[in-house]
Amino acid sequence: MDLKNGSVVTEFILQGFSVAWKLQIVFFVTFSLIYGATVLGNVLIMVTVTCSSTLHSPMYFLLGNLSFLDMCLSTVTTPKMIRDLLTEHKTISIWGCMAQMFFMHLFGGAEMSLLIAMAVDRYVAICKPLHYKTIMSHRVLTGFLLLSWVIGLIHTTSQMVFTVGLPFCGPNVLDSFFCDLPLVIKLACTETYILELLVIVNSGLLSLLCFILLLISYVVMLVTIWKHSSSASSKALSTLSAHITVVTLFFGPAIFIYAFPFNGYSVDKFLSMFYSIITPLLNPIIYTLRNQEMKAAIKRLSIYKNIISKYLNNINFLMYKIHD
Ligand SMILES: *[C@@H]1O[C@H](CO)[C@@H](O)[C@H](O)[C@H]1NC(C)=O
Repeated sequence: MDLKNGSVVTEFILQGFSVAWKLQIVFFVTFSLIYGATVLGNVLIMVTVTCSSTLHSPMYFLLGNLSFLDMCLSTVTTPKMIRDLLTEHKTISIWGCMAQMFFMHLFGGAEMSLLIAMAVDRYVAICKPLHYKTIMSHRVLTGFLLLSWVIGLIHTTSQMVFTVGLPFCGPNVLDSFFCDLPLVIKLACTETYILELLVIVNSGLLSLLCFILLLISYVVMLVTIWKHSSSASSKALSTLSAHITVVTLFFGPAIFIYAFPFNGYSVDKFLSMFYSIITPLLNPIIYTLRNQEMKAAIKRLSIYKNIISKYLNNINFLMYKIHD
């Protein structure tokens, strides 16, 4: 058999957590709760933004769309990871693996662009307040959203085009909970130097560059607010600090994972878990807890009481089943 030409690997083994069985159950419960809370929290934001007339402004539309992306991003990896905690053979087919990487970078790239759009929105609101309504029109907003999906698509396609054709013939163990480009590329039995470079530039350096640009723009905004201190500025400050936190949580791990990816630090495993499971939950927490308008709007929508009580019932049910 000519290993150089034929792909003999049909599935990868995800190493995930190699811990005791009992601890896996603890992780199973914990991650199920985190994932449930992520979906619930993000749906809560989407419904609130769509239903509350007080939140019909560009900033909240962008926030609603960010929640949607967060939920998608988490759904690409987390349910499979949770299921794997209860199975002995944690495998994923090659196509499942490719799909995971494709969608992760599609949603990740779109979210990256959306975070930039959110910064532009705040920049116009703070530095050009008189022109805010005309600049951030509905058409511009829709354009931003379309553009962020297009950028996500270009970002993921440009990497996946070269990844789907890779031959895999040797080791097939991934030391992670899900498939991600740096790990999968390393397993290919061919020279991947160019592709590794492409991933570093396309995912790592791009994240780093966006992050630096975003930080600079937020510093400009903070300085502007500081110069025109008024009663409105404390509200603007709290909004900006929420944005900066979210941007740091999103880009920090991404930069570490993709800008220095092929050296096999085990911290990457922790970071990728953080990035795909924790960050999508933190966004709704940061935005809802710190934002008075959001909190007020949520309180007004009493239907949430039903959703939340249903969720709590489900948790009880889950605990009961595990206890059984
Ligand atoms: C996403 O943005 C669009 C366009 O402005 C808006 O109409 C829509 O309500 C937003 N989606 C959510 C879930 O907020």
